[in-house]
Amino acid sequence: MSILAKHGIIERNASLLLIGSLIVVSIGGIVEIAPLFYFQNTIEKVEGMRPYSPLELAGRDIYVREGCYVCHSQMIRPFRDETERYGHYSLAAESMYDHPFQWGSKRTGPDLARVGGRYSNEWQVQHLIDPRSVVPESIMPSYAFLVNAKLDFDTVDGMLRANAAVGVPYSDEAIAAARLDVVAQATPDADTGDLLARYPKAVTGGFDGKPMEITEMDALVAYLQMLGTLVDFDTYDEAANQR
Ligand code: HEC
Repeated sequence: MSILAKHGIIERNASLLLIGSLIVVSIGGIVEIAPLFYFQNTIEKVEGMRPYSPLELAGRDIYVREGCYVCHSQMIRPFRDETERYGHYSLAAESMYDHPFQWGSKRTGPDLARVGGRYSNEWQVQHLIDPRSVVPESIMPSYAFLVNAKLDFDTVDGMLRANAAVGVPYSDEAIAAARLDVVAQATPDADTGDLLARYPKAVTGGFDGKPMEITEMDALVAYLQMLGTLVDFDTYDEAANQR
C-alpha cells in the first residue's frame, strides 16, 4: 500500500482528520508563539519617547476626526526607497503611546511619520488652509475652517486620564496640569518651563498667527510638528535591540 493510499484513511474519517489538523496547527502555533517568551522585550527600548502633550493629543484627535489617515500613513517601512525619502524606518516604540495607532496602508499623500520639523509652522498652517498655494499640483482638500474653530479643551484632562487607563504613563500631576499645559504650549512667549520638563521637545508658540485664541489649527500643527522627532537616531543603538 502506498503512502498516499494510507492518507485515504485520514481523509475518510472525520475524527482522525480533526485530531490530525489540531496537531499540525499546534506545531505551527508553538513555532510562532514560543520565541516571544525568550525575547526580553517585543518593543525595543529607545530613548526620547514620551506621551503626547495635551495640545498634541487634542491635535491628534482632530487628525483622526478629519480622516487624515485616509490619505496618509504613519509608518515608514524598512525598505531603501522609503528610508531615503522619509528617514529612518519606524520603530514599534514610536507608536507605543498611540491609541489607536495611525499606521495605515493608504498613501494618496506622503507618509507623515517623520513630517515634524520638515516645514515651518507657517508653512503647515498655509498648506492646511490652501494646499495649492504652496504645492500647486496638490489634490489635498482645504482645512481652512480649523483656523476659525476654537479648540474645546475643557475636558482635555479626561483625554489624558483615558489614555492613562490603557497604559500611557501620565502622572496625576500631568493630568491636573493638562489645561494649563495647553495654554502654555499654544500661547506665544508663555512660561513653558513646566511644560517642557513634562514634554521635552514640544514645539511651542502661536501656530496660526492668532496669538489670543487657541484654535483647532494650533492643536493640529503642534501634533504634526512633533511627529517622528522624539527619537534621536544619532544615538540610537540598533544592535542593542536585536539580542
Ligand atoms: C484626499 C487625500 C488627502 C487628505 C484627506 C489629506 N491629505 Fe494631506 N496630502 C495629500 C496629498 C496628495 C499631499 C501631497 C501634496 C501636498 O503636499 O499637498 C498631502 C500632503 C500633506 C502634507 C505634507 C507632507 C510632506 O511631507 O510634504 C501634510 C503635512 C499633510 N498632507 C497633512 C494632512 C492633514 C493634517 C490632513 C487632515 C487634516 C490631511 N493631510 C488630509 C492628500 C490628502
